[in-house]
Amino acid sequence: MRRALDWINKRFPLSDFVEKNLTGYHAPRNLSYLWNFGAIAGTFYAIQVITGVWLAMFYKPDETLAFDSIQYIMREVHWGWLIRNVHANGSTAIFVAIYVHMARGIYYGSYKRPRELLWYIGFFIFLSFVAEAFMGYVLPWGQMSFWGATAITNVFTVIPVVGPGLTAWMRGDFAMGDAALTRFFALHTTFIPVAVIGSLIALHLIALRMTGSNNPEGVDFDKKWPLSVPFYPYYVAKDLWFISLYAMVFLYIVFFDPRMFLEPVNNEPANPLETPLNIVAEWYLLPFYAILKTVPSKLGGVVALATAILSIGILPVLDRSRVRSARYRPVKRVLTWIFFVDFVLLGYVGRYQPNAVSFLGVTMHTLGVFAASYYLLYFITMPVVSYYEPVRTPAGEFLSAEDKGD
Ligand code: HEM
Repeated sequence: MRRALDWINKRFPLSDFVEKNLTGYHAPRNLSYLWNFGAIAGTFYAIQVITGVWLAMFYKPDETLAFDSIQYIMREVHWGWLIRNVHANGSTAIFVAIYVHMARGIYYGSYKRPRELLWYIGFFIFLSFVAEAFMGYVLPWGQMSFWGATAITNVFTVIPVVGPGLTAWMRGDFAMGDAALTRFFALHTTFIPVAVIGSLIALHLIALRMTGSNNPEGVDFDKKWPLSVPFYPYYVAKDLWFISLYAMVFLYIVFFDPRMFLEPVNNEPANPLETPLNIVAEWYLLPFYAILKTVPSKLGGVVALATAILSIGILPVLDRSRVRSARYRPVKRVLTWIFFVDFVLLGYVGRYQPNAVSFLGVTMHTLGVFAASYYLLYFITMPVVSYYEPVRTPAGEFLSAEDKGD
């Protein structure tokens, strides 16, 4: 063993790598379970790549064969049902992990100095996953694949002058059809997951290695024992145990309720002559879909949607406070909790037609207008609110903007 390691070390810096990134790399000792979700997202990314390769061996990217090839995988291919159910539900597992990971970052101010670049890279990972999941959803070529893709690609027609041409260029045709299916397959299976997301995750981890992890207190700790602990064995063990727990819930869904997050209408083959009554996005895109639908004008909806997504990306610029963690920012804490509830509410609104009546007795449209307004106001007011908000010290005193020296 020793000799094998020496042999490798003379040719490849393996022990150096382990020392620099695991045994000699220290992370704050007070990280909560919320700091396990990056590792969960990474694990499920790997699972998606592996199961995706298997599916690609049997799937046919052709508008006349795609739907049937999925039925073939589910019924005839050995273990095909398992691989497909893991892949189809894997996107849910990744988005749950990514949303919790981002919410943690928002709450504890992980995007603030010196982790701005880490946040920007993460934001591009998020956008790439949205594109990746959207294209993957088109591949089974069911009713929702077809109509969802038609609705979303139509969004680009609102761009002045170039919009309609751009939409036809993306589809490779004037309507969704074989050309779009084939190119979405190519992008979904190679370029986006491997080249784009793979490289972005690597950059994300390199940037994280540079800055180290933030923590619930939001203050910088000494990077030495006892305030910080070596990543291996402490956090490797914690990550593995939490990933196992998450995987158990995931496998329960895969084995006992694999349709929980899937749209039943997508079990009907795509039919360009019959529009489904209610075209809905996958659950993880519903909050954004709700914002798009809430604004009556098409262009206005797209501008609101783009603003909503971009605001998350530019959080490091919007937040002017010197304090990271919402634990010590009473105003941000309340506004952020409302924001999280609001985001879930938008997801609920996005699921239904605008004239349906919500649980509050008002129409989904009215509820959507309030929820979308809060979402946008949360970000628009952030530069001012974060600058003037009082800050709580660990001893419980409140400091005003002047006391803080802002
Ligand atoms: C598949 C996608 C992603 C993977 C695999 C991933 C991986 C990781 C890992 C392993 C960590 C360290 C452990 C942790 O803090 O949880 C981390 C930290 C971080 N990630 Fe991600 N990440 C992903 C997506 C994102 C996204 C979408 C964002 C934000 C838009 C983001 C922002 C951050 C930030 C700010 C940190 C530092 C957090 C802190 O130390 O408090 N990540 N990421």
